[in-house]
Amino acid sequence: MDEIEKLPGVGPATAEKLKDAGYDSVMAIAVESPRNLAEIAEIGDSVAAKIINAAKKAADIGNFESGVEIMERRKEIKKITTGSASFDDLLGGGVETESITEFFGEFGSGKTQIMHQLAVNATLPVEYGGLDGEVAMIDTENTFRPERIIQMVGGANKKLELDIKPEEVLGKIHVARAYNSSHQMLLVDKLFDIAKERPIKLVVVDSLTAHFRAEYMGRGALAERQQLLNRHMHKLLKFSTLNKAAICVTNQVASKPDAFFGDPTRPIGGHIVGHTATFRVYLRKSKGDKRIARLIDSPNLPEGEALLRITEEGVSD
Ligand code: GTP
Ligand code: MG
Repeated sequence: MDEIEKLPGVGPATAEKLKDAGYDSVMAIAVESPRNLAEIAEIGDSVAAKIINAAKKAADIGNFESGVEIMERRKEIKKITTGSASFDDLLGGGVETESITEFFGEFGSGKTQIMHQLAVNATLPVEYGGLDGEVAMIDTENTFRPERIIQMVGGANKKLELDIKPEEVLGKIHVARAYNSSHQMLLVDKLFDIAKERPIKLVVVDSLTAHFRAEYMGRGALAERQQLLNRHMHKLLKFSTLNKAAICVTNQVASKPDAFFGDPTRPIGGHIVGHTATFRVYLRKSKGDKRIARLIDSPNLPEGEALLRITEEGVSD
């Protein structure tokens, strides 16, 4: 019998439901809100509240950790190379696991291309900047292109002097179309199931915000939209912690700072996303295939910019 089943009021069936819903420790339950727990584990509100109280008592709430201990734990965090050394440097070595990185910028700024490249790179061996893992992509705009993955595998083979079969990489990238925002959120629930069978180390949501923007228009819908987006992001964050995976999301914003949007790096509606994302990268077009990436609001890295290129072979310096 594991620790979840030992909680008062949790029978084997409920324990199973909780585990299916992704709660794999007493701690995960202790920090949940009754409402979320009831909804996600499909149990009554009062049962959920009781279980959470029991979990709070049973959980090792823990102590304050020393900086040294936190350093130790952070050593488990891994990075995925972007394909560009200067972009990697900007991000402190690449896209981090156990956090959400948001890429925002106008149309054509390279968000989807970078998502394709990260999908390829996450499957690479660790010594080549990958996570030796598999990838789940939630595609809301029907912009996933296997042909592009094949080209990028070719580019990686050439650059790293490897001989990886494109089909092998394609077999590790699992793509789901999301038809609307509710479907998009349901697909995140599904992710927890897939991760039991496949070593999902990167989750991409491209685009995070498009459906929400289209469906919740106008001032009146803003609060509800932000609340849903917030819940969506928290589920993704939970997935990243439980599975030690990286999460990358995209967010299209207008480039022209007008009276309403003000600073383009502070998009309206971007706030909730911004507060949950650990890293925010603002992308903008430069000449030809060049793109400029700017890191915003990082907890531990200086703000700065990197120049990268998007070519036939993928993302490069
Ligand atoms: P939205 O989704 O519309 O907001 O844009 P985005 O930021 O996702 O832009 P995306 O990543 O789709 O970038 C599109 C740009 O990438 C194009 O304008 C091209 O410059 C480049 N690109 C896309 N496909 C290819 C390709 O097959 N080869 C090359 N060389 N460049 C490509
Ligand atoms: Mg796109």
